[in-house]
Amino acid sequence: MNYKEYISTKLNVQGVTATELESFIEIPPNTDMGDFALPCFKLSKILRSSPIKIAEDLANAFMVDDVVSGCTAVNGYLNFKINRNAFASALLNEIIEKGDCFGSDDIGNGKTVCIDYSSINIAKPFHIGHLSTTVIGSALCKIYRFLGYKVVGINHLGDYGTQFGKLIVAYKKWSSEQAVLEGRLKELTRIYVMFHDQAKENPELEDEARHYFKLIEDGDEESNKLFELFKKITLEEVDKIYKLLNVTFDSYAGESFYNDKMAPVVQELDQKGLLKDSEGAKIVDLEEYGMSPCLILKSDGSSLYATRDIAAAIYRKNTYDFYKNLYVVAYQQNLHFKQFFKVLELMGKDWATDCVHVAYGMVSLESGSMSTRQGKVVLLEDVISKTIEKAYKVIEEKNPNLPNKEQTARAVGTGAVIFGALCNNKIKDIVFSYDRVLSFEGETCPYVQYTVARCNSVINKCGNPKDFELIDLNDDEYAVLNQLGRFKEVVKSAADKYEPSLVTRYALDLASAFNKFYITCRISGEQDKIKNFRLTICKSVKTVLTNALTLLGIQTVEEM
Ligand code: ARG
Repeated sequence: MNYKEYISTKLNVQGVTATELESFIEIPPNTDMGDFALPCFKLSKILRSSPIKIAEDLANAFMVDDVVSGCTAVNGYLNFKINRNAFASALLNEIIEKGDCFGSDDIGNGKTVCIDYSSINIAKPFHIGHLSTTVIGSALCKIYRFLGYKVVGINHLGDYGTQFGKLIVAYKKWSSEQAVLEGRLKELTRIYVMFHDQAKENPELEDEARHYFKLIEDGDEESNKLFELFKKITLEEVDKIYKLLNVTFDSYAGESFYNDKMAPVVQELDQKGLLKDSEGAKIVDLEEYGMSPCLILKSDGSSLYATRDIAAAIYRKNTYDFYKNLYVVAYQQNLHFKQFFKVLELMGKDWATDCVHVAYGMVSLESGSMSTRQGKVVLLEDVISKTIEKAYKVIEEKNPNLPNKEQTARAVGTGAVIFGALCNNKIKDIVFSYDRVLSFEGETCPYVQYTVARCNSVINKCGNPKDFELIDLNDDEYAVLNQLGRFKEVVKSAADKYEPSLVTRYALDLASAFNKFYITCRISGEQDKIKNFRLTICKSVKTVLTNALTLLGIQTVEEM
């Protein structure tokens, strides 16, 4: 039952469509006054009347029925009470019936969404700065799939550029296959840093690097073999982290994949009269749009980051015919995305408007921000293992007899890292704190996971609920049901706003409503009908919290 829709079609407001009215209707934070409310100041301008008068007139005209049992005007708000019993039975029955599909939808059927995320750079350490793109992108993939879309998760690898020439030079001078196979990414980072130190004194190293990069591009066998080795090692290393974080991709087509797909793009730009010479380089002038020019070719004819992104977007449109093409990339790259989206538009690609830069803020540590050059990188792998370790310690302290301690610590530790990164509006910069993400109180993952475990333990103790019969709902029971009823809407707006944090916040709200209910409403020892109804609530909360956490890539535990 869509109550907002139902109410808005019953209201009759001249000059305002039912859809508009529906968008004005809110679920009040405190349901004492009503279950739904229409703030009438939103209608004042159109109706040229005061909100108080509008609310009163609308209340007088409204006919209550089996679905909406009350409608009153209070201070310019029109408050609706719904028939809570009908709402409760329909909702609980639906959750029981749909289980892990509850909240899913088919609105996305037949549509494809491309999501470019994580998009790491080959041979560079995977640090905490990559956490947000990885978990936001992964959550968006799961959310869109849940809504019926076909999703193509793309790791647009940074596998192109002179740095690979530098690595080959460094490898030949200071490393070996064995050292790289053993030292892995750490060895690659070591020799990369060494190259930069040495190149300060011996600038001819830079020429050598350029030479090797050219060899890679020209298909030289030895150089490409080395490059493939660096790529293989990087991917194997990051794959361990992806596994921990429940992250998967459908494509690893990185920057070098577009090597042979750029010439036609440059040609098209030229044909459409968009290319301009600028000191030997080729650019698209964007001054008219208040932006610096988009660089397409350097004076030596080589392509740039933007060139490859333009080719990639066209390739994605041709290959997947996307409905939307998302890029989960830090806000530092705002200009880059604005520029190349504009270039696509100028090329006459009407789908340019379906390309979206899903920008997010920076992650730093309490000890300050990171700097690769100063060697102050914090590896994501270290953060995750430290969090798992800490989770293990907390379990040892609080529940030493727990079976599967290690598995639980892993779910709690990685969950805490993911949840911590998905907790706030994505554009906000965040400061990562081990203690905070692992706390059992407040807005944390362990708090939500613990709530699931609590539901589970009640069910284990009192037995699975049988077919329920309705009882007279008290406010705490209704508050939980009210949250359960919001889930679908939350998932949809998380997709619409590219904001997985809405699901995170929702999980916290539902957990907190449940915990309040759990304190005030007795279950064990209560008479059968009430007990069974409340157990049904426990089971439904477990289902919906699990569904919400799954969308975020977080595992639940039965006990903790
Ligand atoms: N590898 C890039 C970086 O680390 C991010 C790539 C994002 N995706 C894209 N299509 N530009 O900065």
